Amino acid sequence: MGDKSSIFEEFREHSISEFFRKNRHMLGYSGKLRSMTTIVHELVTNALDACEEAEILPDIKVEIKKLGTDHYKVAVEDNGPGIPPEFVPKVFGKMLAGSKMHRFVQSRGQQGIGAAGVLLFAQVTTGKPLKITTSTGDGKIHIMEVKMNIEKNEGEVLSHKVKKGRWRGTRVEGEFKEVTYSRREQGPYEYLRRISLSTPHARITLVDPEETIVFERTVDKIPARPEEIKPHPYGITPDELLYISRRTRAKKISTMLVRELSRVTPQRVKELQDYILRDKILEKYRGSELWNLIVKCYLKVDIEKYLKKFSEYLDKKEIEEVKSIINALPESLSQLKNYYLKYLIMEYLIEKLSEEKLKEVKRHFKKRPESFIDFAERNYLSASTMEELKKKLREITRKPREFIEALKDRGMVSEEELKKLRKEIEELLDKPPKEMTWEDAELIVRALQDMEFIAPSTTGLRPIGAENIEKSLKAALKPQFVKAITRKPKTYRGGIPFAVEVALAYGGNAGRESEGTRKMEIMRFANHVPLLFDASGCGITNAVKSINWRRYGLKNEEEVPLTVFVNLISTHIPYTSAGKQAIACGPEENEEIYNEIRQSLMICARELEKYLARIRREMEEEKKRKYILKYATIFAEGLANITNRPKEEIERRIVELLSKS
Ligand SMILES: Nc1ncnc2c1ncn2[C@@H]1O[C@H](COP(=O)(O)OP(=O)(O)OP(=O)(O)O)[C@@H](O)[C@H]1O
Ligand SMILES: [Mg+2]
Repeated sequence: MGDKSSIFEEFREHSISEFFRKNRHMLGYSGKLRSMTTIVHELVTNALDACEEAEILPDIKVEIKKLGTDHYKVAVEDNGPGIPPEFVPKVFGKMLAGSKMHRFVQSRGQQGIGAAGVLLFAQVTTGKPLKITTSTGDGKIHIMEVKMNIEKNEGEVLSHKVKKGRWRGTRVEGEFKEVTYSRREQGPYEYLRRISLSTPHARITLVDPEETIVFERTVDKIPARPEEIKPHPYGITPDELLYISRRTRAKKISTMLVRELSRVTPQRVKELQDYILRDKILEKYRGSELWNLIVKCYLKVDIEKYLKKFSEYLDKKEIEEVKSIINALPESLSQLKNYYLKYLIMEYLIEKLSEEKLKEVKRHFKKRPESFIDFAERNYLSASTMEELKKKLREITRKPREFIEALKDRGMVSEEELKKLRKEIEELLDKPPKEMTWEDAELIVRALQDMEFIAPSTTGLRPIGAENIEKSLKAALKPQFVKAITRKPKTYRGGIPFAVEVALAYGGNAGRESEGTRKMEIMRFANHVPLLFDASGCGITNAVKSINWRRYGLKNEEEVPLTVFVNLISTHIPYTSAGKQAIACGPEENEEIYNEIRQSLMICARELEKYLARIRREMEEEKKRKYILKYATIFAEGLANITNRPKEEIERRIVELLSKS
């Protein structure tokens, strides 16, 4: 007994700041150079976000001064809208506080941790506060020193002076230890060089221990403000819906759905009620003797028929699994759809392929649905066939009304029972959002995902623009060839909008200098922010590497003066971890993003191929011409002798002829 209680004597609650003090690597504070880059990154992205939101052309100055070994002073100053003084301790002293976290908008920052992370790092390595100088342009300049109360996760103002003056913006200054500075690839210099490429409307000045470098802006137009995009029903999870329910101003769950989600109208909420009713009935009868009958009324297709039809090709295990999936409806519907698509494709192939071909294909029939579909799509199905099959797939279940009618016809559900259930659902949707439970959220999300909605709006995404990327790459790299494209927005995970921008720059200073030659360089960006770390674990790197560059006329994939620029923009970037340095996408995860990057690269690569072929042709012709010219005089002499015409004229004609071809 004594033992047990003593454990709990040590029981404490910890604040988020305390957590990050112990796990600072999670915020990017690991390694001396990386820590320095993280400080610059956090402060510069905040400055850019603030300027863009206030529609100000950013003018940002970064100063890095060496104070001792691994000991530096860093200051970042912007001409942005400034921070009202009462918010300063919150911005820098409190984790998870910010203006961006709760919005569905494309910005560099997302979580409300960056600024406080910088203060925390200064404090734990030097014990000193951050000095913030800020003004909203009202004639008062506030100079404040802020520390963090780590236990309480709160900012404390140590001093606050007010000066008069006409200036607007924010300057953040701090001292840091356990950091270092160099112009190496993963340091602040490279970081700023890259961010200036992806933010061509910003002027960024770096005052480093050696000199002052200005990354001049190449575009004078302020980009339009990104619009807020509400989440689409297909992309939402129960957890997110619960999160929204705790913040909404709506009084009822039904109004919350209309207000906080895109494409949901009051009319659609009425429809939603029918879908929920259908799912509730299914849930109620699951496991009962009537289950098989109920499933027959619910599913439009007889999956068991397929299982019998294909039994010679399928594993016993698969048949068992599909049966258990049917038993777990409606939750397991999306899994069932996967199998159904597989069977539709099998049916199609059996009908279409010759005996011989079919023999080859048959052994793939035992594959799991995802890999089978992938295999068939790559080798045998055109896009239009696939589209047709998917159309069938969408109609796998009966519409709620039809389902209810079918049940009523068979006398399996009474009017009274339906009334009772309908009332329950109405009460659920009338509940204040704050009282929504996890089960409610699950029920609603599942029903929404089964309804048909038009695709999410993608107007809120704000790309850099192909023209701007080309401009800034030309200015920075002076390449012989450059091609950029901005693709139309698409969605991943069913409802999250994203778009991809890709550029290739070849020749000049493109590529990365290494041991006297230039090698391929991959520049990765997420919402215009350079990603410098974790390259090998990043989906962008894998997409670039998956391209067969030799096919596009590059002799060697590695040793080419080529810069590959990829910018992924989205209201929600799928990072692999809290360090936000690598994108989670690949052939099996967020493949929409991965495929889009590959496609865009191939489009640019084809242009590069044409350019390289032209250059090669020109060079060969030049060589030929020079060669013939060398002999033109001798040739002309011989001809003059035979024809009795002046040698000079013949030589002139030969040269003329050659330059025409
Ligand atoms: N230079 C600045 N000018 C104006 N407002 C700022 C500035 N820096 C920070 N802020 C405000 O402080 C908030 C908190 O910044 P912080 O970096 O902690 O979080 P974030 O940028 O929202 O997200 P992330 O943690 O992903 O960086 C911002 O949301 C913004 O409202
Ligand atoms: Mg930030």
